[in-house]
Amino acid sequence: MITGTTKLLALFGDPVEKTKSPLIHNTLAELSGQDVSYMAFRVEKKEPEDLSALLRGVYNMGALGFNVTVPLKSLMIPHLVDIDVLAKQIGAVNTLVRVEEKGGYKGYNTDVIGLKRDLLAHGVALREKDVILLGAGGASRAAAFLAASEGAKSIRIANRTLQKAQELAESVRQDYPDCDVTAIPLSEAGLIPDGSIAIQCTSVGFIGNEEASPVTDEAFFRKLSFAYDIIYHPEETRFLALAKEANVPCANGMGMLLWQGIAAFEYWTGEEITAEAAEVVRKRLFA
Ligand code: ATR
Repeated sequence: MITGTTKLLALFGDPVEKTKSPLIHNTLAELSGQDVSYMAFRVEKKEPEDLSALLRGVYNMGALGFNVTVPLKSLMIPHLVDIDVLAKQIGAVNTLVRVEEKGGYKGYNTDVIGLKRDLLAHGVALREKDVILLGAGGASRAAAFLAASEGAKSIRIANRTLQKAQELAESVRQDYPDCDVTAIPLSEAGLIPDGSIAIQCTSVGFIGNEEASPVTDEAFFRKLSFAYDIIYHPEETRFLALAKEANVPCANGMGMLLWQGIAAFEYWTGEEITAEAAEVVRKRLFA
């Protein structure tokens, strides 16, 4: 119920029409009894002065915080009063949290927190593990910095365009000089150590392209101890089907979506979301 005291939460980006975030946050508000309401607003790529005016405007309206999505995830960074270390390393924020003392918003990357929490929910910790990431775009960048910050034993970044993987590996090395991070071509994915954890971060296998997987080599799947695909539409990508065929425990990116939202809501409201509430949101999201 929206009343005279309800605080605004929002999503800014373009496109936003198909976003699940209002469903996540308005359900969390209902379940936790927090007096907040979440709406999505289409905001195209803007000039810096427009973004700073937007932030000033929502701050003056009392907004507790908001999410940003494409194309604003990096563009918002210069306008923040503070930024979380991991979000800064990744170079992208998706959650902005009101900081009263500083008169503005602090940026976080709850996509990466969502990935960490969902892996943990599946009993997977990256510390001292061999990790292989497929892809070298934005999602892989977040996963690479997560793996480095968690103290992975080794990180291999496999990408169709090797140069992009090399650039990402170099960028991780700058912040984590002792991290064993290397770039490899997709064709060498089968050469990973036994027990590796794979995180599929390319767009291959997404709805419309369901028959494809960035790697199909059986030797690769046989070596995995866990396979994660950040795609959740379709629910089972070819990549996950191949992992299952090789009896590898695996999960799609649904939980990452759920947990990134819960982490953002917890930052905004200070309210810890219970496991029961998380389950209700999961059911509504993926009904
Ligand atoms: P995101 O920000 O979601 O990670 P992105 O930056 O566009 O998206 O990155 C997409 C990733 O999917 C890249 O690693 C891309 O590989 P390239 O760097 O070689 O382009 C990968 N990708 C897209 N289509 C692919 C395909 N058909 N085969 C292999 N990799 C592909």
